[in-house]
Amino acid sequence: MQPVHLPGPRLALRELSPGDVDGVFAIYGSPAATHHLSFEPRTRDQVAEIVQRSVASATADPRSEYAVAVVERQSERLVGFGRLATDPHQQRGATFGFALRPDVWGRGYGVETVRLLLSLGFDTLGLHRIWGARSPLNTASAATMAAAGMVEEGRIREHVHKAGKWRDSIVHGILDREWRRAGAE
Ligand SMILES: CC(C)(COP(=O)(O)OP(=O)(O)OC[C@H]1O[C@@H](n2cnc3c(N)ncnc32)[C@H](O)[C@@H]1OP(=O)(O)O)[C@@H](O)C(=O)NCCC(=O)NCCS
Repeated sequence: MQPVHLPGPRLALRELSPGDVDGVFAIYGSPAATHHLSFEPRTRDQVAEIVQRSVASATADPRSEYAVAVVERQSERLVGFGRLATDPHQQRGATFGFALRPDVWGRGYGVETVRLLLSLGFDTLGLHRIWGARSPLNTASAATMAAAGMVEEGRIREHVHKAGKWRDSIVHGILDREWRRAGAE
């Protein structure tokens, strides 16, 4: 497959590069951005490893992992991190995740990011189903996925272990025909 380069109205998805460590650290190292995620804020060294692994995974054949940068088209600044991972146990299915720098929240970038990741999955990769899991308290994520046309499907009990406790996850999913229908409206 060609390297990911997917433009939207204001943002674009592109492949990560080794120079993106500080940009990703502004998200994965942030207590605010990781508050509802499954992990504690990462150190810069941990982020450097994630970026290195992500860059390597982009050349795997077949490729199952699409960890990408979300950038502002105008400034080219990295403002988010997205991940789509195809599931070998699910025919044409993938899970996904997304996070943005706190200083750009509330501008509609979340919905645009989710739409770009869904477009990558459905329009480029020909997937049938994409789903994401969020913390029950993550109302911003719930509203963002709903605004992008994703349906709340249910609860995975005690899915994530964080800060010494198990927590449930709420699943949101979307099918290829729902994506196409939303695009046609
Ligand atoms: C979730 C996240 C990507 C949303 O990004 P954003 O750019 O602020 O979202 P948008 O501006 O596109 O808003 C999308 C919707 O969420 C709603 N929303 C945004 N922040 C909210 C909040 N704190 N509480 C409730 N709703 C919120 C908006 O009102 C909008 O809903 P609407 O379309 O019904 O009006 C961002 O908060 C983030 O990066 N959070 C940390 C990482 C994370 O939680 N990722 C999701 C993991 S499952």
